[in-house]
Amino acid sequence: MAKRKLNVAMIGYDFMGRAHANAWRQVGRFFQDAPFDPVLKVVVGRTEAKVKEAAARLGFEEHATSWQEVLGRKDIDVVDICTPGDSHAPIAIAAAEAGKAILCEKPLANTVADAERMTSAAKKAGVVNMVCHNYRRCPAVALAKQLIDDGQIGDIHHYRGLYLQDWIVDPKFPRVWRLEKARAGSGSLGDILSHTMDLSRHLVGEPVEVSGLLKTFIGERPLPEDPARRGKVDVDDSAQALVKFANGAVGYYEGTRFAPGRKNYNRFEINGSKGSLVWDLERMNELELYVESGPTSGFRTISVTDGKHPYLAAWWPPGHIIGYEHSFTHTVYDFSKAVAEGKSPRPDFEDGLKNQRVLDAIERSAATGQWVKVGAPIHPERTMDQSERRA
Ligand SMILES: NC(=O)c1ccc[n+]([C@@H]2O[C@H](COP(=O)([O-])OP(=O)(O)OC[C@H]3O[C@@H](n4cnc5c(N)ncnc54)[C@H](O)[C@@H]3O)[C@@H](O)[C@H]2O)c1
Repeated sequence: MAKRKLNVAMIGYDFMGRAHANAWRQVGRFFQDAPFDPVLKVVVGRTEAKVKEAAARLGFEEHATSWQEVLGRKDIDVVDICTPGDSHAPIAIAAAEAGKAILCEKPLANTVADAERMTSAAKKAGVVNMVCHNYRRCPAVALAKQLIDDGQIGDIHHYRGLYLQDWIVDPKFPRVWRLEKARAGSGSLGDILSHTMDLSRHLVGEPVEVSGLLKTFIGERPLPEDPARRGKVDVDDSAQALVKFANGAVGYYEGTRFAPGRKNYNRFEINGSKGSLVWDLERMNELELYVESGPTSGFRTISVTDGKHPYLAAWWPPGHIIGYEHSFTHTVYDFSKAVAEGKSPRPDFEDGLKNQRVLDAIERSAATGQWVKVGAPIHPERTMDQSERRA
């Protein structure tokens, strides 16, 4: 029997736009029980010629240059937000008011206030909403979650999360939008450490207090549109934090784009009272498990490629590995099921808001040199910048 169509409007069509469009195209071809037949209805950009080309390349029926007009269309079911952080709040709030289901890229917003407005708009409208922290849906991470929930590594003591890249080490690298606070909200903090944080919330529990350290190594860079001129970098290049969790675990987050040789080293190590788990995106099909078992105990590597592992029955025979793009297909699969059920999947906007509060606490801690409780009211010292404080 033909499945019901699900008409998708995607805003933004570059890196994440390509990843999401691929996921929407693939989901029904591999997941037989996907509830809908997704239709790539319309892609939205700002420049007519570019978005027209993207629509043809990515397989969209139509293109448009006004997301406001697209959100007003009755035939759109899902709004998929793949733009920089400064446009997440206006698009998501308008999409909620128009009654659309919303898949929004991370971090949910650029500020706690925007994340709060987005979360309450989605709640008020009763629309299904999700933040695209796709790494939760790498099969090895989903298996780690199952093992932790089953008590296999006991009570968690430590979470060590690293997200290391190296693409801005060169001072000649241009001041792209990710290096502008007004567009991106923050630097490596929101861009990559938000994933580390989301994984810690998923696998360990709620962070309640942080001691943060932010550092900008290169304060000015050539402007992309005119390399002879230079523009200010007003976000962090590196973000670190010591973390206390509500359940008594303690941990450490580090996110940087200044780690030569590390391309997308998204890694965690979790130590519990009975064992440990280690995962690294660059070897995403493997999960390392240590469980104390006498003289032969040692870390062993599970090849998470079997049909009995999460999501993998839909793909290939054991040992036939999957890649980065599959994490988005799994995200879109769970999102579609949630739309069919009318219930938001995790991480939803509420999770995005909680994540945003942790980002904010790290920023405030870095500015004051003090431990900061997550969600604590804004302190007057917030208005003082780091250079004033040091003086
Ligand atoms: N889930 C992940 O692992 C992951 C990875 C990369 C980026 N992201 C997130 O995805 C989002 C987009 O990042 P990206 O890497 O795809 O960026 P990008 O620069 O590659 O693409 C951004 C797209 O948005 C469009 N755009 C920008 N401002 C717009 C506006 N006001 N209205 C309409 N279109 C607009 C641009 O034309 C472009 O098509 C960000 O929130 C980023 O943090 C998530």
